[in-house]
Amino acid sequence: MKRLPFYLAGSPVHSEHTLEVLDKYTGRVAWKVAFGKRADVLAAIRAAERAKPAMAALPVHERQRVLQHCVSAFESKQDALAQALCVEAGKPIKDAKGEVARLIDTFRVAASEVMREQGDVLSLAISPRADGLRGFTKRVPIGVCSFITPFNFPLNLVAHKVAPAIAAGCPFVLKPAANTPVGALIIAEVLAGAGLPEGAFSVLPCSNDDAAPLVEDDRIALLSFTGGLVGWDLKAKAGRKKVTLELGGNAACIVDADPGCDLGTLVERIVFGAYYQSGQSCISVQRLYIHESLYPQLKTRLIKAVRALKSGNPIHPKTDIGPIIDIPAAKRIDEWMDEAEALGGKALVRGVRRGNRLPPALFEQVPPNAKLQTEEVFGPVLVIEPFSRFDSALKRVNASRFGLQAGVFTANLSHAMRAWDILEVGGVVIGDVPSIRVDAMPYGGVKDSGIGREGVRYAIEDMSETRLLLLKDR
Ligand code: SIN
Repeated sequence: MKRLPFYLAGSPVHSEHTLEVLDKYTGRVAWKVAFGKRADVLAAIRAAERAKPAMAALPVHERQRVLQHCVSAFESKQDALAQALCVEAGKPIKDAKGEVARLIDTFRVAASEVMREQGDVLSLAISPRADGLRGFTKRVPIGVCSFITPFNFPLNLVAHKVAPAIAAGCPFVLKPAANTPVGALIIAEVLAGAGLPEGAFSVLPCSNDDAAPLVEDDRIALLSFTGGLVGWDLKAKAGRKKVTLELGGNAACIVDADPGCDLGTLVERIVFGAYYQSGQSCISVQRLYIHESLYPQLKTRLIKAVRALKSGNPIHPKTDIGPIIDIPAAKRIDEWMDEAEALGGKALVRGVRRGNRLPPALFEQVPPNAKLQTEEVFGPVLVIEPFSRFDSALKRVNASRFGLQAGVFTANLSHAMRAWDILEVGGVVIGDVPSIRVDAMPYGGVKDSGIGREGVRYAIEDMSETRLLLLKDR
């Protein structure tokens, strides 16, 4: 069992007040992590406020050096990072390695985006009134940012806030998820050796109550939250600060009559999209609409493929399905499956839950009012449904309170374009599942799925303001 400090104003702090982080597969305590209190959160905000001028004045080449330092450090720690992720999140090692690669990509993209030209020369000669006026803009850092991150990508969803903040020149305070704080603390350890200005960052695992100033304190200019629907309550308490919310969804995927690929590829991609890291991803495929001509064959193949998934210890390279993050979450998912069956849904594949271990499941004939259809399951469960007309499949996708990403397998270009036009989501993926995310692309949702976009360049924009220079040329 290892002990880890939290990072307050850039320095490690060991505390008697600790949080136990479990190995999600064995249930044993794997780390004891220093746990911050409200006084630490307030001290972190004060330090960040003091670091504002130094962060804003940090030359672009220096911001880039810090980001590149992080890339090199993460590259040299790849195995340790993947192992930590596998233990603290129960993430199968193959998925954990994938996330480490994405962490490195995200910092690498930020190191390049920081050099992007950031201003405009304006053409203001719109009327005689503006004669002699010249306009220029530049981007300036928005100020202190607060970040709250979820358990399911303990490295890369932290990276999507931290790397853009460094590129934009913003000091920040980050609260990682209480059940997976280790990834964020390893990132903090690397940042502590990166030569950022004093007080520029804090990474503080703490209770939600103690974290309240991260939401409510007026010294903070931007709150970026990734997590559940509680994000909307936080926004309501956030006062005048800018708020970015990424709150998940119940992602849908359509398989058209001519899907544009063979059934083997389809099954492989759908099984990946629905079951990787036990479906604990905001863009995991939860609802699959299959053209009626393909439904019987695809159903048979999916049943076989889901039954073949290997559940077990996430550290084994062949494991597909690791544990769910905790017992309450696994119980909830199991209860939602019970509800679906009680309402007439048919379980094509379903196993028995043991603690937080939940076998993958496949359902059909689930009525539209069942939670497996209406809510975000965040578990290894897929619901399939046939359709006859492409437009009715689009309607089914939109019949959701969420709208993060959707996937469409089609060889029909006008169907692809119609999907892009009609689907109420932040992103439409043609030719693949909605579960892919490239870390440089805009990422975020509409409806209950959130507000704003991440993806390095878009987060940097959010973390900076346009400042105008108007020059009278006499
Ligand atoms: C999420 O689950 O919120 C993010 C998904 C991803 O980054 O792949």
